Amino acid sequence: MDDAIQILVIHGPNLNLLGKREPSVYGNQTLDSVNLGLKQLAEKLHVRCDFYQSNVEGHIVDAVQQALGTYQGILINPAAYTHTSVAIRDAIAAVNLPTVEAHLSNIHCREAFRHHSYIAPVAIGQISGFGAESYFLGLQALVSYLRSQ
Ligand code: DQA
Repeated sequence: MDDAIQILVIHGPNLNLLGKREPSVYGNQTLDSVNLGLKQLAEKLHVRCDFYQSNVEGHIVDAVQQALGTYQGILINPAAYTHTSVAIRDAIAAVNLPTVEAHLSNIHCREAFRHHSYIAPVAIGQISGFGAESYFLGLQALVSYLRSQ
């Protein structure tokens, strides 16, 4: 395996409830099954993926900070913190690791408060609206980006 590329996947608040939480919006897949799909895709892409989920903003800030030195990129679904967290945005800007923002639902066609992302301006891109596939597309895009650098 090409151990050179290691990606940290971060899931924000309430994503631990995937599968049970508003399935009509977020689908039936559990977080474990999304992570398994990402792990399998990572193997095909010859990269390594580690996973972190927290409901606590400061813990996500810590995870982003600690990614520096171990990971070359971050795939993050900041969940509700997308729309509120200057702290997570500043952490991503501070570590300056290429970061892809992923959302299961299409945040742009939901309530107005979900249309703004504090994370998007410090991400290399955002993928929104494809269910679990948003994470898979995000991983592929991040790996392509890192390989093109
Ligand atoms: C979400 C969209 C957010 O608006 C929401 O707060 C979430 C999940 C998504 O993946 O669609 O928790 O990030």
